[in-house]
Amino acid sequence: MAGTFYITTPIYYVNAAPHIGHAYTSLAVDTLARWHRLLGDDTWFLSGTDEHGLKIEQSARAAGLEPQAQADRWSAPFRAMSAALDLTNDDFIRTTEARHKAVVAEMWRRMEAAGDIYLSEYAGWYSVGDEAWFSADEVVDGKSPTGHPVEWMEEVGYFFRLSKYGEALLAHLDAHPDFVRPASRYNELRRFIEGGLQDISISRSTFSWGIPVPGADGHVVYVWVDALTNYISALGGPGAPAFERFWPSAIHVIGKDILRFHAVYWPAFLMSAGLPLPKGIFAHGWWTIDGQKMSKSLGNVVDPFEMAQKYGPDAFRYFLLREVTFGTDGDFSEQGLKNRYRGELANDYGNLCNRTLGMLRKYRGGVMPARGEAGPEDATLAAVIEAARAQLVEAMDEMAFHRAIAAIWSVVGAANKYVVETAPWVLAKGKQESRLGEVLYTLCETLRLLGVWTLPFLPRKAAALLDQLGVPADLRTWQSTLTFGGLPAGLQTQEGEPLFPRLEDEDETLAEPAKPVKPAKAPKAPTPAKESPVTETPAAPAAPAGIAPIEYDDFAKLELRSARIVEAEPHPNADKLIKLTVDAGEGRLRTVCAGIAAWYSPADLVGKSVILLANLKPRKLRGVMSEGMLLAGGEETVTLITLPGDHPPGTRIS
Ligand code: MSP
Repeated sequence: MAGTFYITTPIYYVNAAPHIGHAYTSLAVDTLARWHRLLGDDTWFLSGTDEHGLKIEQSARAAGLEPQAQADRWSAPFRAMSAALDLTNDDFIRTTEARHKAVVAEMWRRMEAAGDIYLSEYAGWYSVGDEAWFSADEVVDGKSPTGHPVEWMEEVGYFFRLSKYGEALLAHLDAHPDFVRPASRYNELRRFIEGGLQDISISRSTFSWGIPVPGADGHVVYVWVDALTNYISALGGPGAPAFERFWPSAIHVIGKDILRFHAVYWPAFLMSAGLPLPKGIFAHGWWTIDGQKMSKSLGNVVDPFEMAQKYGPDAFRYFLLREVTFGTDGDFSEQGLKNRYRGELANDYGNLCNRTLGMLRKYRGGVMPARGEAGPEDATLAAVIEAARAQLVEAMDEMAFHRAIAAIWSVVGAANKYVVETAPWVLAKGKQESRLGEVLYTLCETLRLLGVWTLPFLPRKAAALLDQLGVPADLRTWQSTLTFGGLPAGLQTQEGEPLFPRLEDEDETLAEPAKPVKPAKAPKAPTPAKESPVTETPAAPAAPAGIAPIEYDDFAKLELRSARIVEAEPHPNADKLIKLTVDAGEGRLRTVCAGIAAWYSPADLVGKSVILLANLKPRKLRGVMSEGMLLAGGEETVTLITLPGDHPPGTRIS
């Protein structure tokens, strides 16, 4: 299975600080690099900064800096992004480095030697924002297709015979249907090439911030020829050991706006230079912010450093990769991130870890038991694990991160269900030691698999989980997760911090503020006779004082479900409350805080079947998030409404 895997981000312009768009590409690429290292592939991950060209020269001038000082100023935060977001790039290239300039000059000479470069005069629309020429029909209202202003420019310069490569590019696309992904971009690109390619201007002479054209004073190399070459200059250029090792196994991950440069210009330059083409290009979509285009003027630019600091780099990465299909556009909202943090990370994954390790401590002193008696629940969980493993591999081959994560979370869900169904606390009470051992072992081994599989998506948290479980290095490889049962008995687990602690502002943002209750309007009285004016509407006859009658539709809005109490403990901060863990047949457990401490002791409650108001908005009660309400009645003595003990959890009650 092991192979060679070279993956790149675009190199970022040094005219502003990194934003969510840059972080997105880098996080996606890092996830792929980590995944391939996990598989055992010889992997190389490159990122860097794009430092030449008119755009940088102009922004330097505006800032009152020399272009090199401007480049140094803004390259640094892109490099720092690696530490902040846990990016594992093996190299970081800057196009102002000597190692890069030498390879750009070599590319030029190779293309020239192929007869593909000639001197001519150019006149046309140029967009500094895109660093690209546009034809008259592409310019609308003085703007390029990406919305940047264009200006008319006339210049003597060197041209590249792009027109010569149209057929060869189409033939390459035919032979490699995966060369450009997703498929919609492949089709778009094909149509563009079929429309006919024009030669392009590849040198500039009206400014000097660039790499000099070999043998042509006064000309600098067009910034896209310069920038694209980073993918091979960082390997040392043709013939260098790293080049021999990793080229052409490259996958270039880019945003959709720079597809043409990567999938038309770059392959044509390489063909001309007599070099093999990369393996493929993946163009991802763009993020809007709370439904709006991200822009400095709107003040809604999302700072990845801030996000990583607030939610942790793992949660930020998880959200970006889980939220949208890689390849399509997405909308970022901090509330969305919080919701996934609270639900999928803390509630589903985090709780599974905490509960499993907690039960292991409680029932086995934190030491891994030997396998024991098998039970019917084991096969169901095993089948989910088998299916998920295959789905994960398939999804990652297609760079479908959201599907890969969903596959892993199917195991999280199944394991939570397994806890409820096997009810280890009942096994412990009944002294069914052998079965209890097997259940605890199965949960820990499932956690090991989950820990290894989530390493690319949640690098810090997954490693922390594996540390808490005490998993040795040889059981943290992909290979070691192909079979179930690797964890040795006797392994000592470690007590650790909860994986996904409460968000600091949870009280304020996640709990619904109590809404003032609007008094329901009483039904209208029959229209009184004109001659006897009525100043007050009489109360509806059937309604008891204070409560207005409701329609059936209002009642139907309540989602009442049977639920089984699986755990109960005193509320940490409130004497009147009991903190309950209930199973409402959803494949996950809920926490519900009930004000019944005066009438029940926690131990009496476990195993009871009760009625849960399941669609009550979650609300924090004295620091514990409560997800629903249990029905109870009584004035002085409150009694929980219970259902017969064998009532299955999750049944709708109406
Ligand atoms: N310097 C060129 C790339 C040269 S690669 C040989 C460049 N740099 S950039 O800094 O402007 O953009 C880098 C990447 O960020 C691009 O892939 C672009 O698509 C991406 N994004 C910029 N804004 C974005 C969003 N709002 N959302 C997602 N990605 C976005 O282009």
